[in-house]
Amino acid sequence: MNVRPYLVVLLGSLVALVAAAIAPPRAVAAGDGAVLERGRYLVQQVGTCVDCHGAGLKGAKLEFLAPGLPVAHFAPRIAGLPHLSAAQGVAYLQNGLLPNGARSRPPMPQYRLHHDDAVAVVAYLKQLR
Ligand code: HEC
Repeated sequence: MNVRPYLVVLLGSLVALVAAAIAPPRAVAAGDGAVLERGRYLVQQVGTCVDCHGAGLKGAKLEFLAPGLPVAHFAPRIAGLPHLSAAQGVAYLQNGLLPNGARSRPPMPQYRLHHDDAVAVVAYLKQLR
């Protein structure tokens, strides 16, 4: 039996597998316009983060809350995501945990984003000035 054709196919599959394993996942490629557009859509149209984090997402006092409520009365700046690294931001949007293991207080929603959506939101926030 001639095994050469089989060997060629096997080698070709191996090369394809290795190439797939070392290529960066599409959603994480920096400057990817489709990822940024998805992030913009999720932040501006779905999450309406601006309702609390203020114009330009530069931080805002939450005037609509009754003064005595035991909740956070200020939504911090998230334009540029200054307090979190990209990896910390992605983890936070997926599991709600800040780097110190704490959760944000209400009224910050406890988002449970899909990984690719969290990557898109963070990519969008990080490039805002
Ligand atoms: C209903 C109001 C509200 C909405 C809507 C909201 N946030 Fe927040 N967010 C807050 C408040 C308030 C805090 C601060 C909580 C605290 O101090 O414990 C916060 C905290 C955060 C933090 C932690 C920031 C830091 O520096 O510690 C991130 C990140 C964040 N929000 C992202 C978002 C994103 C992204 C969206 C939209 C997809 C969003 N938020 C929508 C109110 C809101």
